[in-house]
Amino acid sequence: MEPNRVQFLENKTLLITGASGFLSKVLVERVLSLQPNVKKLYLLVRASDNKSAEQRLHNEVFEKDLFKVLRKNIGDESLNALISEKVVPVPGDITLNNMGVSDFNLLQDMMQEIDIVFHAAATTRFDERYDVALRINTFGALNVLNFAKKSVKAQLLLHVSTAYVCGERSGLIQEIPFAMGETLHGKNKVDINTEMQLVEQRLEQLAEQGCSEEETKHAMRDLGLKRAKLFGWSNTYSFTKVMGEMFVGHYRGNMPIVIIRPTMITSTFSDPFPGWIEGVKTVDTVIVSYGKGMLKCFLVDKKTACDIIPVDMVANAMIATAAEHFHDSGSHTIYHVASSYRNPIMYKQIKEISIRYFKKSPLLGRSGMPIVPKAPLLLSTKAMFRLYTSLRFKLPLQVLGLLSITFPSQFGNNYQHHNREFKMAMRLVKLYKPYLLFKGVFDDRNLETLRIKNEAKEMNDLPAFSPKCIDWEDYFINTHIPGLATHVLNK
Ligand SMILES: NC(=O)c1ccc[n+]([C@@H]2O[C@H](COP(=O)([O-])OP(=O)(O)OC[C@H]3O[C@@H](n4cnc5c(N)ncnc54)[C@H](OP(=O)(O)O)[C@@H]3O)[C@@H](O)[C@H]2O)c1
Repeated sequence: MEPNRVQFLENKTLLITGASGFLSKVLVERVLSLQPNVKKLYLLVRASDNKSAEQRLHNEVFEKDLFKVLRKNIGDESLNALISEKVVPVPGDITLNNMGVSDFNLLQDMMQEIDIVFHAAATTRFDERYDVALRINTFGALNVLNFAKKSVKAQLLLHVSTAYVCGERSGLIQEIPFAMGETLHGKNKVDINTEMQLVEQRLEQLAEQGCSEEETKHAMRDLGLKRAKLFGWSNTYSFTKVMGEMFVGHYRGNMPIVIIRPTMITSTFSDPFPGWIEGVKTVDTVIVSYGKGMLKCFLVDKKTACDIIPVDMVANAMIATAAEHFHDSGSHTIYHVASSYRNPIMYKQIKEISIRYFKKSPLLGRSGMPIVPKAPLLLSTKAMFRLYTSLRFKLPLQVLGLLSITFPSQFGNNYQHHNREFKMAMRLVKLYKPYLLFKGVFDDRNLETLRIKNEAKEMNDLPAFSPKCIDWEDYFINTHIPGLATHVLNK
């Protein structure tokens, strides 16, 4: 008889990359809470030596509120004992061969013992420097795969990608892999090694021209966006992530591969407690800017779904899919972890819910007074957004700019206020446009099939990972926005 999904982790040794990141630390908490009889957790973090890796894990993972339930349930002492017995801090860097693990004995132990590799480390900046994103998201994925292949016992690499590797598409988006070199417009193939050579040549040129660090950073950011667009992707992040998927799929050999493609990850739905979150990304940037009274208008298609998925559901899905494909020689399976197909929430609803939330529970401004934000105007096309911003901000901005020089005390504040609002709206729109105007729906048939199979075999000892059970209104009002206020804005 097959073991249950959680039972499966018993006596297994796992490597988790990106351990200091949002998703991985939830995975670590889930594993230790659900299966304390896991054999060992090798947690890879960027650090110069063992001591600083251990320090980072202590400060950035185990000391977080995320662990308060486990701490309360088993007590401080037992949790500390569990961590020192099971957790091995690994100082490393995935851009390097052997993931930068330089301690020979540690490397040998890892290669002898690891059963499953969970690879979630990445740079998640949409407009990251091309050299940085290519090294981490693309070649880093290859380094992790090579490490997994060299490990004697490893029987699965679970690689975390993103649903938006599909580019700006519409209709139902299926869970299919990308072939090596495939592009979105089907024209000229992308050669990943040539991309790296291009990056190195450009860096040499910039050095020869005596460019400053700042100039080099801008040039490398521009290069990433240019190359991404050339092959059909809208930003450097999704382009370098898709090339990471290509490497992993193409060079996998007999190593079973699971590629998890989450959409926008939000706060915990229920485990270890509702509403835990770290950092402000994608749709949350918009919600927080609105709550702070800094968002007057925005570019978004109200009628489209905003595909978000709570982080604990992603972590649970990672455990369930790992259990399913462990030992599944040479398999290559893609899982969308998404909500837009089974239980969509529309941008229009998020706007209405956020207005209601901040009306009832406003954020406090610097003066300690409640901020009363006005309902933002949602514009659904780039042309409308450009027209609106030029009328609302640009023309008055020029006039106000002149007036503020002549009469600084009367007009200076007004000018600065408009300027801030304008810059905020433009920055958010520029970064998140591909997500906000996204017309596609992510088919999550593979995960749904797995859920049904688990239920039929009564193997469902994992907490929920189906978006069907989410009441979005309740989640936003009682879990997610309060979670942002407490854990991110510290209100
Ligand atoms: N968050 C989302 O909404 C979302 C949605 C879809 C997919 N994803 C994917 O989910 C995964 C996790 O995302 P996240 O939100 O948890 O990201 P995150 O919070 O930014 O964490 C990224 C982690 O990767 C580590 N990392 C970066 N470069 C590294 C390197 N060279 N060597 C070793 N570690 C490195 C970071 O370490 P440092 O602490 O040293 O920087 C950090 O621990 C990523 O693969 C991402 O693409 C995320």
